[in-house]
Amino acid sequence: MSLLSLALLLPLAGCGSDASSVGASKEGNKDSDIQKLEIKLSHVASDNTPKGLAALKFKEMVEEKSAGKIKVKVFPSGQLYGDNDEIEAVQAGNVQIIIPAAAKLSGFEETFEIFDLPFMFKNEEHLRAFEDGEAGQQLLATLDNHGMKGLAFWPNGFKHITNNKVAINEPKDLKSLKIRTHGGQIINEFYDALGASSTKIAFNETYQALQLGTIDGQENSIVNIETQKYGEVQNHLTIAGHARSEYAVVTNKQWWDGLNKETQALLTDAMKAATEEGRKQVEELETGSMEKIKNEGKIKIVELSDKDKEKFKQATKPIFDKWAKKMNQEILTKAIEAGN
Ligand code: SIN
Repeated sequence: MSLLSLALLLPLAGCGSDASSVGASKEGNKDSDIQKLEIKLSHVASDNTPKGLAALKFKEMVEEKSAGKIKVKVFPSGQLYGDNDEIEAVQAGNVQIIIPAAAKLSGFEETFEIFDLPFMFKNEEHLRAFEDGEAGQQLLATLDNHGMKGLAFWPNGFKHITNNKVAINEPKDLKSLKIRTHGGQIINEFYDALGASSTKIAFNETYQALQLGTIDGQENSIVNIETQKYGEVQNHLTIAGHARSEYAVVTNKQWWDGLNKETQALLTDAMKAATEEGRKQVEELETGSMEKIKNEGKIKIVELSDKDKEKFKQATKPIFDKWAKKMNQEILTKAIEAGN
């Protein structure tokens, strides 16, 4: 992966470190000035999701605070880059900000899959304590060695499972189902351990794969399940909360380092406001999406009790134990402690 990172950075290497090489103008390039910039922000979810609304908040804050000197162009729904090419695009400096599911960064640092460790995070408070603490920041900083800079974690929601074959009440019900995941070794082994098979499919191709029957089901947050209209092609939804869909906000490191301090401070403040917006939206949108799914009445819902969840937890404990050992132990320990 590091060779790939190097190869992707080479086209930028001759451009110097000033921001103009990757999206900024030299105009206003004194430390006391906000630079004139155009920032392209690309993501694969809909506007009406925690990520979509946080991205729009970032745009609003940046444009307002810079009095229009900085323009942020938001490209939702994979309009600019899909999940198969967004990371390479940000490394190459073709886009300034992307917001992939954290697990999609595990090729650089395995610990980004921490959100897929089965039943690792208890609730929103646990996630926030981890992400805002030293360990979360340490995890983001691992991207520095790969031509990227992690600016924040944004929430999406706990993941739940849909399929078009069977009501999933206990682990054995998953047997032989083909499930779409966003990729990552832990989540794939989670399904293997339950007798299902899993396959990585790009987010913006998942609806079609479900419709064509290439796969039987998928897992995602309630908001993604509703906004992607999976209820049209799926009969069953199990509220499992077995893992977390969480994003990392990632920028190109060379571009960021080429910005002056004042511009960086403005973008950092706007990022904080956007993160808060995502956090504010996450539970509210989930409630709204759940109501819509129930009102449509197309999909039968199973809500796992704590006792039911325990069965899934026990069945996948070997996966937790195996992958916990492979992660950065300092980050993992602090992440567990953040829930106490
Ligand atoms: C997203 O919300 O960005 C997509 C996550 C996924 O690929 O499941």
